[in-house]
Amino acid sequence: MKEQMTRYLITSALPYINGIKHLGNLIGSILPADVYAKFLRQDGKDVLYICGTDEHGTPAEIAAAEAGKPIEQYCCEMFEVQKGIYERFGIQFDYFGRSSAPSNHQLTRDIFSHLEKNGFAEEKEIRQYYSFDDKRFLPDRYVEGTCPHCGYQKARGDQCDGCGTLLDPEDLLDPYSSISGSKNIELTATKHIFLDLSKLEDQLKDWVSDQLQWPDVVKGIAKKWLNEGLQPRCITRDLKWGVPVPKEGYEEKVFYVWFDAPNGYISMTQDWAATTDKPDQWKEWWMANQDVQYTEFMAKDNVPFHAIFWPAVLFAADMGFKQVNYIKGFHWLTYDKGKFSTSQKRGIFTDVALDLYPADYWRYYLLANCPETSDSDFSFSLFASVVNKDLADILGNFANRTLSLFQKYYQGLVPLQLQPEQVDQALLQNVEAHVSELGEHLKQMKFRQAAQTLRSLWVLGNEYITTKEPWTVTKTDPTSAMISLIHCLHLLRVFAVTSYPFIPEAAAKILTLLNDPAADQLAQTPFAASVNFSYFAKDHQLQAPFRLFDKIEEARAQELTEQYSGK
Ligand code: 2FM
Ligand code: ZN
Repeated sequence: MKEQMTRYLITSALPYINGIKHLGNLIGSILPADVYAKFLRQDGKDVLYICGTDEHGTPAEIAAAEAGKPIEQYCCEMFEVQKGIYERFGIQFDYFGRSSAPSNHQLTRDIFSHLEKNGFAEEKEIRQYYSFDDKRFLPDRYVEGTCPHCGYQKARGDQCDGCGTLLDPEDLLDPYSSISGSKNIELTATKHIFLDLSKLEDQLKDWVSDQLQWPDVVKGIAKKWLNEGLQPRCITRDLKWGVPVPKEGYEEKVFYVWFDAPNGYISMTQDWAATTDKPDQWKEWWMANQDVQYTEFMAKDNVPFHAIFWPAVLFAADMGFKQVNYIKGFHWLTYDKGKFSTSQKRGIFTDVALDLYPADYWRYYLLANCPETSDSDFSFSLFASVVNKDLADILGNFANRTLSLFQKYYQGLVPLQLQPEQVDQALLQNVEAHVSELGEHLKQMKFRQAAQTLRSLWVLGNEYITTKEPWTVTKTDPTSAMISLIHCLHLLRVFAVTSYPFIPEAAAKILTLLNDPAADQLAQTPFAASVNFSYFAKDHQLQAPFRLFDKIEEARAQELTEQYSGK
């Protein structure tokens, strides 16, 4: 029998629909997953990269109300906006779906019936505030009032920001709805469904302790949750927008957004498969008996749901779905030492970012400085210095120098094809070592280290041309200068291929400049295959160089810092 190759399933935490995301969201889940997916595809692997919008829950309802639009319309529009932005960032999902799609309604109901059948669902009556003016039950954090402990007047129903105490809405004095400000609210008894996962505690503990390879931040969060014990969790809400609960007496309720959203990873794969000629092939990715390596990308606040809650749901439902193999969790990206804040318009949002600079500038900066092992801070001055030094001075300048000299000396034609005995062995080995190190980092999803190695590779090119001085040597030994320059040309091709997961647009431009006959195969060219110093034939025509990256003036960086300080 033919051996089936491991397949790679990749998901990024589904971005909430309620507005355009900021750079922190991008680097915290989508961008690194895209780099990983691009790298694996280049390496010839069978990859499926799934993401989509997380559309249910109170924040979505509120955002739609603020926009003065019906929720369905708001979600449709915002889905297109978000999708468009990711495309402009060069993100290449195999499918970008919606958690509100019929497939997810169906799947979420199925999962729920299995949980019920397997004895994990129980009904309980709880008391919740009903707001007569808003005509709705108020989720905990939409009830505000005076803290009984410290007297802070804007304490939320879940926590007091004055003294930090965890609260229940019933604890608040003079409670009011934070949606309308109305005090016309009343505690009302209502039934809800709770998922009691405590029976799974041992199974989950064993499963989590088997995940030795998970990043420390992920293991730490998972273990902390497990040590606190698995409490029954309410999985229904008094909202209209969401997946309706298929149970008598629950006609006015929907499932909790965190109960339906992760199922979206599966339902979006079903939606993807439905667009192909094999609508059943989603099973090849999601059924536990398949040879699939499944990796999830997310920021650390999402870890409890992905490392404990959803796996517990899948264990409890027992429908044969695959569990995650590796969780790549990220710390926070901060903005000028503070938080990104949507409400205060503090920070850089993805649409604004693209209006300011090309996607590659952001991609490279964010990856090179990603919050991988600790929080990391964005500032325009650092952004400018990274773009100027790494992209413009190192990579851009090398491309420009090399190609200009080909124009100057050889009218843009490759003067000869390098023969194996002409290849600089020391350079070759050095390049091979860098390229294989880069591949290793990417395999292990170490993005910062990968960016560093990539940068050293570019530096190597600059050092090579500076040491060889073809512009001087050509006066006395034109052949030797020619050979050095042909090495540079091939280095440039190595740079394009290996940079592609990070800066796909610039990589493609370099191959255009090189007039590479295989330029359209960039996305399928393995790193190692690019290390070939005899690639270009004699008389191959090169293009005249154009500038790949523009520098950012320090004054402009200052100006942007002011403009987006949110003050
Ligand atoms: O934190 C968030 O942005 C959530 N919308 C992530 C959901 S991930 C998944 F499980 F759907
Ligand atoms: Zn307080």
